[in-house]
Amino acid sequence: MKPIRIALTKGRLLKDAEKIFEGIGYNPSCFHNIGRKLILEDKENGVEYILAKAFDVLTYVDSGACDMGIVGKDVLMELDKEFYEVLDLNIGKCIFALAAPNNFKMDNGYRRIKIASKYPNVAKAYFHKKGQDVEVIKINGSVELAPILGVSDAIVDIVETGDTLRENGLNVVDKICDISARLIVNKASMKINREKIDEIIGKIEKLNY
Ligand code: PRP
Repeated sequence: MKPIRIALTKGRLLKDAEKIFEGIGYNPSCFHNIGRKLILEDKENGVEYILAKAFDVLTYVDSGACDMGIVGKDVLMELDKEFYEVLDLNIGKCIFALAAPNNFKMDNGYRRIKIASKYPNVAKAYFHKKGQDVEVIKINGSVELAPILGVSDAIVDIVETGDTLRENGLNVVDKICDISARLIVNKASMKINREKIDEIIGKIEKLNY
């Protein structure tokens, strides 16, 4: 039988994702000494982990290249993709926030304010809901730089510890919503591999999620 491919988000979420699979009794040694490997096999349990960037986890699950994935709600909110969101894993907890330097004013009276974000759709939806017309600029990372460099007035970004904001002279102006990592499943895989996928979901669910 083909292994179930599970896309995991590289970076901060990976350690917690590892703990989940170790917790359900899957082979912990496949996460040891991974070096630059991007595919980790656990033949014994019939799964294969694919290590990918957050936005790509969703692309791989949406396309069917991977059967399941662990990815932040921030990514799921940003991209309009097809998937089943089956569990809130209560890991990777953070918030979406509007943040800005001290002197920031939402209405500066003479021009549209500029918002930098790695999540332009989330930023647009937030301001649309408030009825505010803003210019949204897409930035690919270290978004905190944008207001410092004068590229934007404020940012919409995820905040976990708040260290990056603090160390770069920015403050939370408004909390948009809570974020955590979710277990997602490809829609066709859910039908084709129902038994194995249900087994994985069931075991993870029992870990008190
Ligand atoms: C995220 C986010 C902030 C930072 C927040 O970036 O975009 O920059 O983490 O975390 P903190 O509140 O704990 O400081 P990430 O580290 O994913 O890198 P990136 O900026 O390159 O996307």
